[in-house]
Amino acid sequence: MPQTHKGPAQTAALVTAPGGFFMTLRDVAFWIRSSRADSAINGARREHGAAAAFDRLYARTSDPFGAELPQYRYQQRKYNSLLSMLPQRRYRNVLDIGCGLGAFTRKLAPFADAVLGTDISEVAMSQARKLSIGYPNVKYSLEPMLEAPADEAVFDLIVLADTLYYMDSLNTERLRCISHNIASRLVPGGLLLLVNHFFFGFDRASRQTRATHDVFRCAPLLDCVAEHRRAFFLATVLRRSDRKVGL
Ligand SMILES: C[S@@+](CC[C@H](N)C(=O)[O-])C[C@H]1O[C@@H](n2cnc3c(N)ncnc32)[C@H](O)[C@@H]1O
Repeated sequence: MPQTHKGPAQTAALVTAPGGFFMTLRDVAFWIRSSRADSAINGARREHGAAAAFDRLYARTSDPFGAELPQYRYQQRKYNSLLSMLPQRRYRNVLDIGCGLGAFTRKLAPFADAVLGTDISEVAMSQARKLSIGYPNVKYSLEPMLEAPADEAVFDLIVLADTLYYMDSLNTERLRCISHNIASRLVPGGLLLLVNHFFFGFDRASRQTRATHDVFRCAPLLDCVAEHRRAFFLATVLRRSDRKVGL
């Protein structure tokens, strides 16, 4: 059952939310594919580091997370659902961190002047560039955007979807740093859309997601605008406040 907790202001969204979701065998196959990709990453990451692990995965498997494979509905539904959580407006500068092959980055393109997708995988970035020919306002860059604060805040929308749980040592202190670094890239009033797996609430992945989103909700420079629980993810929309807190 979808659950949404919104703040006081409810505005029109970029798109209409997709309707109900009933799992089929194909959807189960999607999760098997995704968990194979995740265990390949976990194995290779220990030996070669995260960037090389993702490079290997993207070099070996085309679209390893089934983002645009027509037989799987989950990711496309997720993307449409995420767009439906964003207020309708023209965005000037959008950043999609951990964008992979750019499937969602391209979905953001019609609503923005410029969209930048970043990732730690060089292979993913090179494939994303090829897939995005015909999207003149979309660019990609191999940049570890989470590791340091920005000198200048230029983005009015940042998306961080299904990326954080691949990072090592994701304790509260590290998450506080990451939330601060991301907030430093947002102009005052700019939005952050944070998305992570959420299944039954009591399983390990859901508990990690809850703890992660709670750190962002408590970040000194971010105010929570809305939170949406969907099958099978949690999405939190946060707004950069104009309080000045040691950036
Ligand atoms: C499951 S994919 C998600 C892609 C996209 N965000 C989506 O929702 O379709 C995870 C991506 O996160 C990237 N990634 C992992 N760790 C990262 C980090 N520390 N910084 C940036 N990207 C990272 C991986 O290379 C991979 O492309």
